[in-house]
Amino acid sequence: LGNGLGATPPMGWNSWNHFHFGINETMIQETADALVSTGLSKLGYTYANIDDGWGEMTRDDNGNLVPHRTKFPSGIKALADYVHGKGLKLGIYSDAGYFTCGTKMAGSLGHEEQDAKTFASWGVDYLKYDNCHNDGTKPVDRYPVMTRALMKAGRPIYFSLCEGGDMHPALWGYQVGNSWRTTDDIRDRWESMISKADINEVYANYARPGGWNDPDMLEVGNGGMTKNEYVVHFSLWAISKAPLIIGCDVRNMTEDTKEILSNAEVIAVNQDPLGIQGKKVRNGNLEVWAGPLSGYSVAVVLLNKYSYRRAPVTALWEDIGLDPSTVVQARDLWEHKTLERQFVGSLTATLEPHSCKMYVLKPVA
Ligand code: GLA
Repeated sequence: LGNGLGATPPMGWNSWNHFHFGINETMIQETADALVSTGLSKLGYTYANIDDGWGEMTRDDNGNLVPHRTKFPSGIKALADYVHGKGLKLGIYSDAGYFTCGTKMAGSLGHEEQDAKTFASWGVDYLKYDNCHNDGTKPVDRYPVMTRALMKAGRPIYFSLCEGGDMHPALWGYQVGNSWRTTDDIRDRWESMISKADINEVYANYARPGGWNDPDMLEVGNGGMTKNEYVVHFSLWAISKAPLIIGCDVRNMTEDTKEILSNAEVIAVNQDPLGIQGKKVRNGNLEVWAGPLSGYSVAVVLLNKYSYRRAPVTALWEDIGLDPSTVVQARDLWEHKTLERQFVGSLTATLEPHSCKMYVLKPVA
């Protein structure tokens, strides 16, 4: 979307995957504090996004959305001020229907201009816009109404389409929003995570600066996967140029969770200015994902999807877009090591079950 936002995939945090409806202004403030104190905000995680459950079920007498009276008693404007004071940005959630998906609080259908103005007046910087309980018309017709309303609201607001993937939003999303969900909801399980990455990969050619495919928010740190599996999760999201929206409780992270989310080298792949989504170039249980980076480098993920056996995985230059004679230096982004020998033609690593390696390959002159 041509609103100047999303030149690289957005980074931040959202309340849904960990807290669902259990949100309130204090924990959003504490989360903002934690994003700063943990160093995550410095790494680029700047959006603190409130999901479903922030509002009253019904509008006020003037038709305005109302923050939940007991969960957000100070209102969203005060919260935005707090979050902005920390150098962060605030995100909110609404729905292109009559009610939101989970809590069934008032949605924005028919109130797009009024709500866009409300969000802008509160200082909101990001809108996640869901598709539940609508009037049965096509999202491709309903979502642009909010796009136009946001464009007129007088504040740059990142527009995240949460259509769910049924209507292939990748095909029309670029004109309408800064990212679009390509899948239904992720769960904190290996199979779910892998399936979201796979579905999202199909639409790789539609992503570019200003508009990204969104395989849903991160589950890293929520407890349902092993450390290696979360490393795979984060690596695949990074190379897929997916929004990196943390979905755990950043106030109480384990060292492993913090280490994964704070990997600046993996984040740099995601935030590379070229903005080309990586693709799966070898299929099966031993996969290779690759994508070009600026400076003629290539990002590569080698992935062992077997649950029971170690196995070697090989990236062939012909698969990852390098000329077969190109000599490269390989940087291992999880070991934080540049490999001693140089490689030409292929690179092989032996991987534990449900684990990956991630490299940046840089041609040497
Ligand atoms: C949908 C979305 C989720 C979350 C919930 C809230 O399921 O896909 O990400 O926003 O609604 O109810």
